[in-house]
Amino acid sequence: MSTSPDTDSGGRHFDLGTGRPSGEIRKLTSLLEVSQALANATNFKASLHRVLEILEKSHDAVRSAVALESGERLPLDVAASLGSGRDKAWAATIPAGSLARQVFTTGRPVVVPRISREPALGERKAGEDERSFVCVPLLLNRRATGVLCIELRFKPDRNYERTGKFFGVVASMIAQAIKVQKLLEADRERLVQENVRLQGELRERYDFSHILGTSRAMHAVSEQMMQVARSNTTVLIRGESGTGKELIAQAIHYNSPRASKPFVKVSCAALPDTLIESELFGYEKGAFTGAVARKAGRFERADGGTLFLDEIGDVNTSVQVKLLRVLQEREFERLGGTEPVRVNVRLIAATNKQLEDAIAAGAFREDLLYRLNVFTIFVPPLRERKTDVLLLADHFLERLAADHRKRIRRISTPAIDMLMAYHWPGNVRELQNVIERAVLVCDGDVVHAHHLPPTLQMADTSEAAATQPLSAALAAYEKDLIQDALKMARGNRAKAARLLHATARIVNYKIRKYRIDWRRFR
Ligand SMILES: Nc1ncnc2c1ncn2[C@@H]1O[C@H](COP(=O)(O)OP(=O)(O)OP(=O)(O)O)[C@@H](O)[C@H]1O
Ligand SMILES: [Mg+2]
Repeated sequence: MSTSPDTDSGGRHFDLGTGRPSGEIRKLTSLLEVSQALANATNFKASLHRVLEILEKSHDAVRSAVALESGERLPLDVAASLGSGRDKAWAATIPAGSLARQVFTTGRPVVVPRISREPALGERKAGEDERSFVCVPLLLNRRATGVLCIELRFKPDRNYERTGKFFGVVASMIAQAIKVQKLLEADRERLVQENVRLQGELRERYDFSHILGTSRAMHAVSEQMMQVARSNTTVLIRGESGTGKELIAQAIHYNSPRASKPFVKVSCAALPDTLIESELFGYEKGAFTGAVARKAGRFERADGGTLFLDEIGDVNTSVQVKLLRVLQEREFERLGGTEPVRVNVRLIAATNKQLEDAIAAGAFREDLLYRLNVFTIFVPPLRERKTDVLLLADHFLERLAADHRKRIRRISTPAIDMLMAYHWPGNVRELQNVIERAVLVCDGDVVHAHHLPPTLQMADTSEAAATQPLSAALAAYEKDLIQDALKMARGNRAKAARLLHATARIVNYKIRKYRIDWRRFR
């Protein structure tokens, strides 16, 4: 501190006469205020404006501006500027050829003690007060991304070197804030893009066409889905485990006018009785020990969209009463609250339980079933739509082979027969798991019978046996193997024979016998 004013006994600096804090303390105070202003990242331009106000209030700035680069070679855009009266704020851009522009390109600060002696700053009219001009670059990675310009009231005894240094510190704080701002913006942009991509992906994934099935039973289901999607009707989806209830619920939502609003799922079976109420309806602060703040429930989070209550047969009777009320009046109270909360939610419920049995046992309210039963979709078990098995198996094979980076082209006939003979207690989900297992253990480009799990090997194949005697099954298997070998040998019969550890004569004989067109493998 070269020009230290008087110091009191506590070591604090005061300007004698005014009792105001001396320059050094004022500067430190300002820097603290500047950093606080810049910490408010929600509105960056407002933060910059606040910084300029601080410079105006405590540092003789009569006008000031922060200008930022707006793109390659473009003029600097003024992001915030301050001034009044004769010293009115600078215009919206900083023109080429100006001092500020020069500071920006060179990255070096400029301090002009007397504006009147600097032709680059324009003519001052006679009688106008003298001003000083300071312009410092906002440096990021040693490159200017903008400038801070300040016009000061002229004071002959001002230490211009220190003044320049002080504004340099302010400028570096602004530059840091710009860096943070840029990171935040990049992050936000990334999130927005990710969101758009995911929304598109969701819509595509839950397109009706992705619910596979050519069986008559599934046609009926698709028709019902399309009918009900457009409305706001409550839907109850019933069917065994793994039949595709959740998939259907999602497809209804993503094909409804609510598609851009949330789809919120609640697995009623997975939530303990003590939690389900607060999960669904939320709670007020202090509703119970641990409720430190108000929390919105899933009903509120689904506002405008769809709430999917999975395994509705598993909710307890007290929650059933509350659900009944939401369905009737479209409102509820949060736990520990008295104010009713109104929501606009479409409800889709699913269950694999026989709700009629639960009603008879007193575990499910009949009036709730009536309320849910407005539009019911029954999803048939897979064993009742055998024609879909192959379609689904092929679809899962293609998708899972790609997932596991394997080139598997098809399922052999004996394997198909086994898939068709099985009774699929776990429905589509079980089929999907079976195919995934096959993809994992398969070492060639065909899924063979031995790639299927033991449950299918031991399956009641009475159906297959009735339609296919052993000789036919063996013949189909043999034909399959020969075709595979021919494919691998690219139609070269001698090579195929070697692959099968058989003689060319036998292989040729079988090719004729099974009428295999070996030329198409060339
Ligand atoms: N028709 C279908 N087309 C394509 N994939 C399907 C079809 N049906 C079901 N799936 C797939 O099968 C799996 C099980 O479906 P989902 O989870 O919807 O069944 P769920 O009826 O809700 O079963 P749970 O009652 O056990 O919850 C999912 O991976 C789903 O994508
Ligand atoms: Mg489910």
